[in-house]
Parts: sequence; structure tokens; C-alpha cells
Amino acid sequence: QKGGYSHFMLKEIHEQPEAVKNTLSEVSDIENIVSQFPQFKRITFVACGTSHHASLVGKYLFEALLGLPTDVVLASEFEFSEGAIDPDSLVIFISQSGETADTLKALKIANKKAKTLAIVNVLGSTATREADYVIFTRAGPEIGVAATKTYISQLTCIYLLAACMGKNRELLDELQQIPDYMKTVLLLEEDIKEMAAKYKDAQDFFFIGRGFSYPTAMEGALKLKEITYIHGEGYAAGELKHGPLALIDDDVPVVAVVPPGKSHDRTLSNVEEVKARGARVIGLGSEDDQVLSYEASDMIKFPSQIRELISPLLYVVPLQLLSYHMSVQRGIDPDKPKNLAKCVTVE
Ligand code: M6R
Repeated sequence: QKGGYSHFMLKEIHEQPEAVKNTLSEVSDIENIVSQFPQFKRITFVACGTSHHASLVGKYLFEALLGLPTDVVLASEFEFSEGAIDPDSLVIFISQSGETADTLKALKIANKKAKTLAIVNVLGSTATREADYVIFTRAGPEIGVAATKTYISQLTCIYLLAACMGKNRELLDELQQIPDYMKTVLLLEEDIKEMAAKYKDAQDFFFIGRGFSYPTAMEGALKLKEITYIHGEGYAAGELKHGPLALIDDDVPVVAVVPPGKSHDRTLSNVEEVKARGARVIGLGSEDDQVLSYEASDMIKFPSQIRELISPLLYVVPLQLLSYHMSVQRGIDPDKPKNLAKCVTVE
């Protein structure tokens, strides 16, 4: 059942190139849905947990490529901020299970005011019956409580949606290369396992990034908390100096997500700040990035062709592996973290 892997989570991490490939085959369905869209003036994403982080990537993408004002609201907060939507809005609900109680409650509220679209992994789930439009992620069943391949498939759908809405052929072509890049990234597993052994006893971590890398930092921190029980904070790198820098010292490793692009130099200056306070830095960046490589205590290198805009699809993968190996090395079962359920059906 686990296909030779020690845990479902590890199997599911390794299934990600296939999950992207399968989700990419949804493009004609997505084109068809987009052709039915009226002219929307704004987009609001609504979701919880990891699906919320996929939504944050959606915000940066829709604003960058479509110039559409885009909000992201946590599903559990939606009833307190629903005023932000109107009949010209498209409200996009993202949920692996399609059964998350907070998300379904928000969907009911939104259906009365705007057009709704659900991006869901489970066929026939409640969200697929209630939304005006439905797109399926083709991740296949996910057993591990930690969302991994479903997150990558959600992101793939969001990129496809943005590409179809913007008639962006270049992006559609670029997405076809993601499964191969991902296979290359997965080859880093042995190095990451060794890194996990070095860092597994830390009690607090920071994950930092800007723009497209901010959601990746948030997701890296969530994975860490969920399956290693180590405290991890995902932070917009520029916010460090507005408070949390006071917490940084040589006991607090910082994972810095620094792909090549607009955010690169500014996040690098934050890397220097935390290093000056003694932090060990795990840098995620391009194989060509000699400055980051010099500044970081440990470096996770990606093919240099992976630009910032598509980096969320790839840079999160080593962070999943890092948490997975720390979890196992700490004697935890990553498939069944304490206090958590795969599907959260209570508000
Ligand atoms: O099924 P959903 O996508 O609606 O679930 C939302 C969250 O409960 C879920 O993503 C949770 O945060 C993950 N277990 C994190 O790995």
C-alpha cells in the first residue's frame, strides 16, 4: 500500500511529479470553465491551512498576471469579512477534501452574493455540489494527514487558471516542464536527510521569504509544526525587523526562500541580518547563487531556470522532505500527527 516507502507522506511527496502531470491534463476543462466566466472585477480566495497557502500564491499570481484585485480570506474568518465580495466577484474555494466545515460555511455565505468556484481533490464531495464551477485537482488519494501532493496539485490548478484567464501560452508551456524539474529536486533527498539530522533538535525555527516565496515560507513552517512538533514561524522577510528579530540568536535556525527574481536582493539582506545575530541559515536558491551559498550554513540548490513566479511549485518540496525526515528522526509518525485529523468537519 505504501509502495515500498516507510510512510504514506514520503510516498505522496514522491508522487508529486505525477500529480502535477495529471493535473495539467485538466487544462481543457479549465479553458471551458473560463469561457463561461462573466467579466469579473475582483477575486477572493477562501481556504484553511495548506489550502490557504495555495490561495496566497494565487493572490500574487492573479495580481501579477491578470492585474485583478485579489484578496485571500481564511475560511474561519470569512463570515466576519464577507463585505469584501459583491456580484462582480469570483470567490474561489480551495479544499483538498471538499468537506472542511469552515470552508463549506463560507461557501454557503458566498453563494448568496457572488459566483463561486471550488478547486477540490475529492470527487462528489460537498464543495463540488455547492459551488457554481468546479475544478478537480488530480493528485489521487492522499492518506498522510500532512497535505503534500494535494498542495502541489492545487497550485498547478491555480497556475492553469491564471494562464487560461490571461491566455498566457508561454506560462502553459513552462508548466509542462514542472514534473521534470520536480524529479530533479527530489534527488536532493539524501542531502536533506543529513541536514534534518543537524537541525532536528532546535526548538524554534523561522521561515522567511518575500512575494511568491512568502507562502512557501508559511507552508514550510506549517509542515514543521504539524509533523515534528517543533515551533516554526513563517514570516514575510521584511517584517522581521518589526518585532521577531528580537527572538533570533544562534539557537534559532532560519530557512530563507530566495529564488532568483525581484525579491532576491532584499531577502538576502535579511539573511545577513539574521546571520549577524548568530542564526544558522538554510538557504533555498538557484544553483548559480554564489552569494547565498556563501552566506548560508546549508544550501538547497535548484535549477537556475526556475524563476520566482513559478518557484512556489518547486521550492516547497525540500521543505516537505526536511520536516518529514526531522519527524522520523525525532521518533514521530508523520502520517498521524497528534491532535490532527485529515478532514476537519467541525467549525
Ligand atoms: O481539506 P482541506 O484542504 O480543506 O483542509 C484544510 C486544512 O485542514 C489542511 O490543509 C491542513 O492544514 C493540512 N493537514 C496541513 O498539512
